[in-house]
Amino acid sequence: MIQVAILGHGVVGSGVAEVLRKNAAGIAHKAGDAIEIKRILDLREFPETPYADLFTKNFDDILHDADIRIVVETMGGSHPAYEFSKRALLAGKSVVTSNKEVVANYGAELLEIARQNGVSYLFEASVGGGIPIIRPMWQCLAANRIRSVSGILNGTCNYILTKMAKEHADFDAALAEAQRLGYAERNPAADIEGTDTCRKISILTSLAYGEHVRPERILCEGITNITYDDIAYAEECGYAVKLLGRAARAEDGKVYALTAPHLVPKDNALAGVNDVYNGILVVGNIVEDVLFCGRGAGSLPTASAVMADVLDVIRDCRKTIGWKNIEATFLGDIGDHVTDCLIRTAASEEAIKAAFGGQTAVQTRGENRVFFTGKRSEREIDEKCRALDAAALKLRVLA
Ligand code: HSE
Repeated sequence: MIQVAILGHGVVGSGVAEVLRKNAAGIAHKAGDAIEIKRILDLREFPETPYADLFTKNFDDILHDADIRIVVETMGGSHPAYEFSKRALLAGKSVVTSNKEVVANYGAELLEIARQNGVSYLFEASVGGGIPIIRPMWQCLAANRIRSVSGILNGTCNYILTKMAKEHADFDAALAEAQRLGYAERNPAADIEGTDTCRKISILTSLAYGEHVRPERILCEGITNITYDDIAYAEECGYAVKLLGRAARAEDGKVYALTAPHLVPKDNALAGVNDVYNGILVVGNIVEDVLFCGRGAGSLPTASAVMADVLDVIRDCRKTIGWKNIEATFLGDIGDHVTDCLIRTAASEEAIKAAFGGQTAVQTRGENRVFFTGKRSEREIDEKCRALDAAALKLRVLA
């Protein structure tokens, strides 16, 4: 019998318990032994669940239980999830997590502690929900130098943008539905302002390039200023609007990482990734394009990835996954990043042409003007836009 504890009985934690119950026989077969939940940590009461007598409010009940080999951390938030994970690793227990906030902020340190203690810290569920992405990037693409990683990494935002595009839906109604379906974070600002995507791309960037990238070092823009008309105009120009987390190595050798709404050409595979689905396009110098796609949020899809890690711990796989515990040295200044952008602004055509050149093709949409900047550095585009209209919307073209 293999005994595990689950920290948190929210959307993901309850999903893990359900998967263990639903697929018990198959999981036991793959693990070579039955897996039993010994304890569940949560401050709330769950008298109706079949596991009611397993609940504790005291982490020490788990830490000091020598029979518990694996701790599944699905608490969300940095604290006390980080402290509990660290204490469990130091006590010789492996930790499996879906908590992107902890991995993005403290992953390098926890990975090192795991290595030093001969246990695992695994985090497949922290990016892309049920999509296998951490393991494939680490193992299957190991022979490649990664040129770029571009991901639709937030199910809530993709759900909202898809609903706005297809049903001309109101932003707030689409967000409320995503919350009802259990996709959104407890505080959905983390979804719609891009923070959640930023954490996930920081994890993928660290994994792809081998040193720790804190989310604060990545430019982060969300989707709250996008209107249905922006989406409609993008469609007319042959693009879908998607919130992307992206890291790409440029010709100057630097890696530019950002989270921002992008215009994705309709013939790019990411343009067809809709609703709560996430899609991650990885370009390696040997394999070229590989697309990973699936359900990026929700209880059972995320629990599926958590359980895969639990099984890996039991089979003693993948102890060395991760990156160096040093601040990334490969990141370029985002101001130097060269990109083409669609700008929507209240400024006049004359002002736009004075700033961006007389050849700029400017269209009028209702009260606003829209135009493409052509390829320029982010610094130049931002300076010119600031002078034109502080509230201008900037959508980068994915190239
Ligand atoms: N709120 C997140 C999303 C959950 O919508 O993708 C999965 O990390």
